[in-house]
Amino acid sequence: MSDKAGHYRELLSAVDAITADEPDAVANMANAAALLFEWLPELNWAGFYRTIDGALVLGPFQGRAACVRIAVGSGVCGAAVPERRSQLVADVHAFAGHIACDAASASELVVPVFVDDAIVAVIDLDSPRLGRFDDEDRAGVEAIAGRIARRICP
Ligand code: SME
Repeated sequence: MSDKAGHYRELLSAVDAITADEPDAVANMANAAALLFEWLPELNWAGFYRTIDGALVLGPFQGRAACVRIAVGSGVCGAAVPERRSQLVADVHAFAGHIACDAASASELVVPVFVDDAIVAVIDLDSPRLGRFDDEDRAGVEAIAGRIARRICP
């Protein structure tokens, strides 16, 4: 097991522990965003967009103020919904339709949160470093999304 995988296992445990007994979805997203932002190096944004009435709506996050509503199919976050899979973007400037909430962002990882077959939210991570995210990051964040999925639904 790589150090990075071990780090993600510890992060998963921390997110699991802090959300396990709390029924409030906002509180759980807020703490999950804070832990992601604190534990993962070289991020400038970490947080949630929730799928509400066919759009992605900003949820709890850490970082600079961000765009509130993203149409499904728009940007990196919006692409994750119809494609129903994580988006790992090494260079956001090369991604057609990328939505620049913070000019510092250079790479991005978006992971859908599934409850049964429905995508209830996406987890969005931004980094000022090109190529910041790899498959271990994707797998680590997908494991976290799976663990908290039912705890972030209102
Ligand atoms: N870059 C995202 C928009 C959200 S911000 O990064 C917080 C996108 O292209 O969907």
